[in-house]
Amino acid sequence: MTRPPQNVIAAAQNASLRLADRHTPLVMNEWYVAAFGAEIQRELLARTLLGKRLVFFRTTDHRVVALEDRCPHRSMPLSAGTLQEDTVVCGYHGFRFNSEGDCIEVPSQSSCPKNVGVKTYRTLERGPVVWIWMGEADQADVSKLPPQDWMEDDKWERSQGYLALQASYVRLHENLLDLTHLSFLHAKSFGTPDYAKAAFESEIGEGQFALVRQVVPTTLPPVWAIPTGLTGPGQAARMVRSEFRSLGLHEVSVTFYDCHLPEKDRPEFRIRTAHMPTPESATRTHYFIVHGRDFVQDDPATTRFMHDQLFVAFQEDVDGLALQEQALAATPPEELYEFSVSADAPAVAMRRYVLSRQQKEAQD
Ligand code: FES
Ligand SMILES: [Fe+2]
Repeated sequence: MTRPPQNVIAAAQNASLRLADRHTPLVMNEWYVAAFGAEIQRELLARTLLGKRLVFFRTTDHRVVALEDRCPHRSMPLSAGTLQEDTVVCGYHGFRFNSEGDCIEVPSQSSCPKNVGVKTYRTLERGPVVWIWMGEADQADVSKLPPQDWMEDDKWERSQGYLALQASYVRLHENLLDLTHLSFLHAKSFGTPDYAKAAFESEIGEGQFALVRQVVPTTLPPVWAIPTGLTGPGQAARMVRSEFRSLGLHEVSVTFYDCHLPEKDRPEFRIRTAHMPTPESATRTHYFIVHGRDFVQDDPATTRFMHDQLFVAFQEDVDGLALQEQALAATPPEELYEFSVSADAPAVAMRRYVLSRQQKEAQD
């Protein structure tokens, strides 16, 4: 078998038209992670989100401020200026802006022009992350932010990290919704050969997509085996739920236990990982990750061990998705076709949903 017949390729291309991809304009009306709270201190931080250049700082009363990063005088980035109390002074001619984005001082004259300033964006600090709403301000409803209670709960021991992804956030969501790839892309890290063949179920709802996989019995890779003590061959159950919760949040929840012990006697070990992609552009993504566990708390060595092992694996995703992006970018549209299989069902539904969100936003 080589290249499929033209009518089969045409059908695949036609189906792809209904899916969000690297060409789909970004969806603005959504909460996305702007930064970890710890990144925003009493200095100016420049970051491009959803194609817009922003500058962040923390006020003297600890609020996070997000401003457009372009001085309306002569377009110098405000991030190249200085933070003074709760104001930003442009580094070119010294115009001063307050935390509402209003210009409040022009050094070369006694009065400041009225109604001149920069755009501000609503932010919301929750647990370790700062969320931002960059769409229509009147739609910035806090209830649209999916709850992530475990990220604020002391029962969960957490670590966090950031990766720069040279690919579309849509492909990262797709990657997370089909963990079949653990057996291959992560063969050298936290994947095991039995993972791809394990039974799975799909859950497809309105804006909520999940893939649930039960790998029982299995042999855990060191990242899970060592902290749980489930080190024996074929000793463990690995119950995985991988869920798209919003365009800005995908959550993976896993429970491990000894599959040879009766249900009432066996301890269960839970981990959660919040994967939070924020598009920098259509083909570059800020990838924020928070990982938590509900066992072996208060043990920094275990936290460090798991964090380091996990980030080796997440780097494999980032490297793989960058290669995929390069292949997509290098393929002329008329030659590009992709086929889906049943494990792709949640990801295909998710990509349809993302496209529908973008199309709806373009109409409103
Ligand atoms: S460019 Fe900012 S003050 Fe002139
Ligand atoms: Fe992965």
